[in-house]
Amino acid sequence: MKRFLVRVRDAFALRCNFCLLALLALPMSAQTNPASPSSTAPAHFAFPPADLMNIGVYYYPEAWPAEQWSRDFANIKKLGMEFVHMGEFSWAFMEPTEGHFDFAWLDRAIQLATDQGLKVVLCTPTPAPPVWLTSAHPEILMIDANGRQMQHGTRQQASWSVPLYRQYVAKIVHELGKRYGQDPRIWGWQLDNELTHYGKEPDYGPESQASFRAWLQKKYGTIANLNRDWGNAFWSQMYQTFDQIRIPNQLEQVAQMNPHAILDSQRWFADETADYLRFQTDILREYCGHRQWITTNHIHNFPAVNPVLNGKDFDVVSWTHYPVHGNANRGPLGFRLGDSAVISFAGDFMRSINGQAGVMELQPGQVNWGDVNPQPYPGAVHLWIMRTFATGSKFVCTYRYREPLSGAEQYHYGLVGTDGVTPTNGGEQYAQAARELVQLRTLAKPNAPLPAAYAARRTAILYSYEDRWEVDNHKQNKDWDTYEHVLKYYRAAKRAGAPVDVITEDKDFSAYPFLIAPAYQMLDAELVARWKAYVEAGGHLILTARTGQKDRRGHLWEGPWAMPVLDLIGAKIKFYDTLPAPNVAHVKAGDQTHEWFTWGDVLDPQPGTQTLATYSDQYYAGGVAATTRALGKGTVTYIGVDSVTGDLEAQLLGDVLKKAGAKPEQFADGFSVDFRDGLWIATNFTEKTQRAPIPAGKRPVIGNADVPIAGVTVWQE
Ligand code: GAL
Repeated sequence: MKRFLVRVRDAFALRCNFCLLALLALPMSAQTNPASPSSTAPAHFAFPPADLMNIGVYYYPEAWPAEQWSRDFANIKKLGMEFVHMGEFSWAFMEPTEGHFDFAWLDRAIQLATDQGLKVVLCTPTPAPPVWLTSAHPEILMIDANGRQMQHGTRQQASWSVPLYRQYVAKIVHELGKRYGQDPRIWGWQLDNELTHYGKEPDYGPESQASFRAWLQKKYGTIANLNRDWGNAFWSQMYQTFDQIRIPNQLEQVAQMNPHAILDSQRWFADETADYLRFQTDILREYCGHRQWITTNHIHNFPAVNPVLNGKDFDVVSWTHYPVHGNANRGPLGFRLGDSAVISFAGDFMRSINGQAGVMELQPGQVNWGDVNPQPYPGAVHLWIMRTFATGSKFVCTYRYREPLSGAEQYHYGLVGTDGVTPTNGGEQYAQAARELVQLRTLAKPNAPLPAAYAARRTAILYSYEDRWEVDNHKQNKDWDTYEHVLKYYRAAKRAGAPVDVITEDKDFSAYPFLIAPAYQMLDAELVARWKAYVEAGGHLILTARTGQKDRRGHLWEGPWAMPVLDLIGAKIKFYDTLPAPNVAHVKAGDQTHEWFTWGDVLDPQPGTQTLATYSDQYYAGGVAATTRALGKGTVTYIGVDSVTGDLEAQLLGDVLKKAGAKPEQFADGFSVDFRDGLWIATNFTEKTQRAPIPAGKRPVIGNADVPIAGVTVWQE
């Protein structure tokens, strides 16, 4: 990240002043956004823009009788699927004994799939090491926080920090590359699977400990630097050598752990995981170059693994999502519908990483692993597919084709049920979406620029995993939720009808009329200077509670609270407050009052700064909670309070857009209208029918102007 900063800052200093001017001078319809669904950024040739989105499914040939494969592939094709995903966990079949490889079965499955006209996504089978390997080399098995060694019997029990494990991984990946890296039937590759140790990350074994120490040594050079940056003078925490350091593990500690040690261990774990993915990518590239695409399937919101770190390694960033598994979500139907913002935030984030994203696993119906596994709402599976389409996905793939009859994922829906042939309701919805995609390809205008009124609302949310870790390590209120705080602004932008990119600091801010940095706790003078230049050139910056409290090391500033942003926001922060639930306090903006309790900054606006919201109660009633000021050609708004429902955030963001002339919509929370490739897509996750804003004279090509619960309506620009 740092290395980008200097480059971007220099480029920015030159460009920023002209960019917004140039942007404003352009007819809005000519503006396209490098990361948006209507991007003109070159697509990987495997994803021609005219294809819009390919649709496919997971199949595990090794788990089904070989005589059923051709029937299954034929039925997959009949449902309208365009690709099939295979091989992810099949190491025991690919290398049944050490050094003896068997790909005959896979060759046959690939040929049968290809005979049906299906493209094939292959996987490296590395999340599931065979028992011969772990029996011969138990030292590759991870050690959990309790010091217990994991054993064969499920998956992802080996540690990617153990060099010996990597040697075995390298062998199987080389074999796959040699055999299939030039094979035109193979469309692309998924590496490993959802890289985590399934709730037991990281590995605390000796090789991981050594890797953490080496990472620290590289970062700090000397132990004195580390002691200084970790604040080790307190509690006699001073280390004398790097060898004395262990990965922080609360189970081996009496009191609260050092927050800088925790943050560094999070950074290390993310780097280590990214390095492992790069290790596999580099091997495959020797064989396939970029003729076949490479990705991994990140969990949509799993902050321990940072997808940004592999943005340059992969041709496409992909992710997995299971919207309903007993989680309440929002509203009375949320447990059946999922949460619109959660799905599309992930889409808008993953796409913004390198311009191309796809959904590798999307729930086809009930799952088996939630605490409660309810039926999705009728139509919800189709709704999720089309929501991912709306965020610009290049492909969507569902997990899985057949409902398993035995093994660890019994009770998990597939596109077909337990008889292996009859489509489930999820299967029917996939078939419906597949037919619609074929229809939409004839109606779309690939890469059409964003329509002017929509482009005028273009919003970026600045999002950093490191910040999320840092804030979550110091919540100050157990009910504070950094991700939810960010999502409140995302929801607010979608309610206003804005196209959103969720971006990282290496991106050019000047492409966006509106830039929101929610709870952006750690920063430096360079970032503040970029924000200032952005605003002076005409941008509208929204900073929120907790932003700017710390430097990049996670130290508070030796000066006034949030010192570096005070000039920019035109206010001082007198103090912050937070209340234990079930207490709630109130904040008033205009004629609306909202509840809050997790975080409230009490501000002291300086001359020239206007008050947008004030506290209605507590001993500081009348104190200022949100401000705005003009600066150069733009504005800076600071919202220091985190409301319970997110309605305050929606109200204030709507006002910023309105004042800037961007004419916000007022959609219900959960009803979104997005644009891609010349098409408008309305998706309804609310509990009521919603009206799609179809202009007079236009007719929907999918659905109706009244969009029912779980409904989707599409019309042409
Ligand atoms: C995913 C995982 C898949 C499968 C699926 C079941 O998280 O990547 O391998 O287990 O869950 O819903």
